[in-house]
Amino acid sequence: MKLFTSVVLFGAAVALVSAAAAGTEGEISFEYHRYEELRKALVSVWLQCPTITRIYTIGESFEGRELLVLEMSDNPGTHEPGEPEFKYIGNMHGNEAVGRELIIYLAEYLCNQYQQGNETIIDLVHNTRIHLMPSMNPDGFEKAASQPGEIKDWFVGRSNAQGVDLNRNFPDLDRIIYINEKEGGANNHLLQNMKKAVEENTKLAPETKAVIHWIMDIPFVLSANLHGGDVVANYPYDETRTGSTHEYSSSPDDVVFKSLAKSYSMYNPVMSDPNRPPCRKNDDDSSFKDGITNGGAWYSVPGGMQDFNYLSSNCFEITLELSCDKFPSEDNLKTYWEQNRNSLVSYIEQVHRGVKGFVRDLQGSPIFNASISVEGIDHDITTAKDGDYWRLLAPGNYKVAATAPGYLTVIKKVAVGFSPATRVDFELESLMERKEEEREELMDWWKMMSETLNF
Ligand SMILES: *[C@@H]1O[C@H](CO)[C@@H](O)[C@H](O)[C@H]1NC(C)=O
Ligand SMILES: *[C@@H]1O[C@H](CO)[C@@H](O)[C@H](O)[C@H]1NC(C)=O
Ligand SMILES: [Zn+2]
Repeated sequence: MKLFTSVVLFGAAVALVSAAAAGTEGEISFEYHRYEELRKALVSVWLQCPTITRIYTIGESFEGRELLVLEMSDNPGTHEPGEPEFKYIGNMHGNEAVGRELIIYLAEYLCNQYQQGNETIIDLVHNTRIHLMPSMNPDGFEKAASQPGEIKDWFVGRSNAQGVDLNRNFPDLDRIIYINEKEGGANNHLLQNMKKAVEENTKLAPETKAVIHWIMDIPFVLSANLHGGDVVANYPYDETRTGSTHEYSSSPDDVVFKSLAKSYSMYNPVMSDPNRPPCRKNDDDSSFKDGITNGGAWYSVPGGMQDFNYLSSNCFEITLELSCDKFPSEDNLKTYWEQNRNSLVSYIEQVHRGVKGFVRDLQGSPIFNASISVEGIDHDITTAKDGDYWRLLAPGNYKVAATAPGYLTVIKKVAVGFSPATRVDFELESLMERKEEEREELMDWWKMMSETLNF
């Protein structure tokens, strides 16, 4: 991951200091942001809230535009042990423009509210590392936005500049998990020993590769991927087991995912409206309920980003469809913001649910890559570098186990409420230590025996 060191940006920053001084600070302006404007908008948030933000780039698009991220946290730039990480990705389909704008407005909103002393937002920023990427497909957006007139074509700008649909371009891990379900095999981190294969894969677009590395490098817990063209919160799996077009395709975390999707749809009055007519007369919305849908039940998507997150990392991702129009006219942007603002904040808060804690050895050293398994849910989470883990769960009683090669497994019973997450730490005894103890016990016994028997 490359740090943001652009000279151009510094120039933009200087220009914006005067803009801020002129009184534009603290207001959201509901307009579209082309590439340069997007950069400036992020810089402007950074200037306004420098102690809680950082701008970085995860790579470049095919045409060389930066894939910019604004990070918000009380310690920007570092993973704090125990603090969960969250991401929003917008505009993966370049012509689906609402999500891109909402992420910019969200950055501005969080910064404004933080400065105004809003306790909810201050708590959120202090306890979460939030990563906001307004556009994963800046080339596609420029193409879509360059069309003259208010009405944009339904497809122009969807793909990246090479013509690749980024939401069909991820390694298809669903096919592997469906085989593993039947024949046994890993239930998580399926890309673990395939990093080289990813590097050498020429079918992966640069945008896809950059996001894959991002997902692998940061211990994300929760994420959403913002789209347009319909209004619903869509959850895994997206690809069906049998390959049929419509088929409910539950993941082991179906209960959690439904609850996550609802935490978004519930606060969006249009999404959750049971009487909302379909976006277009012939749309098949029959799988939508309470503003949510299982991906496969709606229509099967192989190679999508959502399932890739869940199957390659600890990150749970859902896909949000935010508007019937993919590229609505600018006067509607404020309405979309109002419809989605509470949902966008509520969804970030979900990262603080379930069980979290640390796995350490008896000396207190962190155990990296230990597995956290929950009885009855065939999907394990692993610990990050500091031995920290986050296991999203719906309220209930669970048996949670921590396992690491060379250590004795520890199982704990845990009661989980809605929020905040229940703290559960594990101390694992290494098998070496156990052997040493047993050896010492045996020696003591032997000594005692020999003394008693006098030999
Ligand atoms: C603080 O932020 C929350 C979450 O966005 C919002 O619901 C609430 O209205 C805000 N409070 C004030 C006083 O603006
Ligand atoms: C994590 O553990 C798994 C299985 O225990 C192993 O296959 C994998 O290589 C480990 N990953 C790292 C990064 O150590
Ligand atoms: Zn889309």
